[in-house]
Amino acid sequence: MTLLYVSTAERAAAWQPIFAEAGEEMIVGEAAVTDPAAVTHLLCWTPPRDLGRYPNLKVVISAGAGVDQMPPLPPGVALSRTVAPGIEEMVRDWVLMACLMLHRSMPAYLEQAARGEWKTHHTQLAQGCRVGIMGMGRIGSLAARSLASLGFPVAGWSRSGRPVEGVEVFGSDQLDAMLARTDLLVCLLPLTPETRGLMNADFLGKLPRGARLVHAGRGAQLDMDALKAALDQGQISAAMLDVTEPEPLPQDHWAWADPRVIITPHVAAVTDYAEGARHVLEVIRATRAGTEIPGLVDQAKGY
Ligand code: GLV
Repeated sequence: MTLLYVSTAERAAAWQPIFAEAGEEMIVGEAAVTDPAAVTHLLCWTPPRDLGRYPNLKVVISAGAGVDQMPPLPPGVALSRTVAPGIEEMVRDWVLMACLMLHRSMPAYLEQAARGEWKTHHTQLAQGCRVGIMGMGRIGSLAARSLASLGFPVAGWSRSGRPVEGVEVFGSDQLDAMLARTDLLVCLLPLTPETRGLMNADFLGKLPRGARLVHAGRGAQLDMDALKAALDQGQISAAMLDVTEPEPLPQDHWAWADPRVIITPHVAAVTDYAEGARHVLEVIRATRAGTEIPGLVDQAKGY
C-alpha cells in the first residue's frame, strides 16, 4: 500500500518520519509518482483533477474533518475524513469560547474598550441562556456536554435524533421547536444540499428575539445579508463566526466593521500533524485488514 501525499511541504516533512517509523510507503506530490498503479491511498484537501491516473486507488482521505470540498470520487473509491481527538477538542474549545464571549457580552465590551468606555451590561446566569446546537456528531456532542457542565441548558438537533446524555435532542423534523427555545444557537453542521443556505431570514426569525449565533459549520449555510437584517432589527443581537462565504471574507465586507459580529478566519481547528498522520496510518492498516475504514464518509449523505 502506498500513500500519495498532496499537501504542503511543511506538513510532508512532519509526516515523513512518522511513515518511515511505521514502515509505510509515502510519496510526496504527484510529480514524484513513478508508478501510478502503486498508489492506493491519497491524502489531500482537494484531490488532483485526474484520479483516473491511479487505477488501484482505494481511499481518499480529507486532510480535515470536512469533506464538502471533495468532488465526486470515481466509483469504488472510499472517502475518509480525518478523525482526530485534537480536531474535536479544538472546535469544542472555540465553541465554548464563542458561547462564553456572546453570553458575557464581549462584542459590546470590546467595542467599548476600543474607545475607553466603562459601562456595564446585565449579566444573566448560564442557567438562563438556552443553548441549541445544530449538528450532534462527535464534535457537537462534545461541545454539548461541556456547555451543559457549565450550567447552560443544552439542546441538540440532528438528523438521526440519537440521544446524548444530559442534552435534550430534537429530531430532523423538530428544528423549529429547537429554535423556539434557543437563546444561543451553535451551528456545527456539515455542508450538504440540505444545509446550504439553511440560516436565512425565515430561519433566523424562528429564534427568540435577541438570540445570538455561533457559527463553526460552513459559510455557505448562513445568508450574511439575512444576518445583517436580523442584527439591524434586533432579532439577532450578536454573532461569532469562524466560517464565512466567501473565504477569505473580503476586507470591505460589512461584517468586519460591525461591532456586533466577531469573525475568526476559519481557525476553530487545525489538524495536528502527528494526529493526521496517525489517522491515515489507521486507514491504511484497516484497508489491509479489510476492516472498517476509520472516518468513513457516506458519500451519498455527504458526511
Ligand atoms: C475544517 O473546517 C475542517 O474541515 O477540518
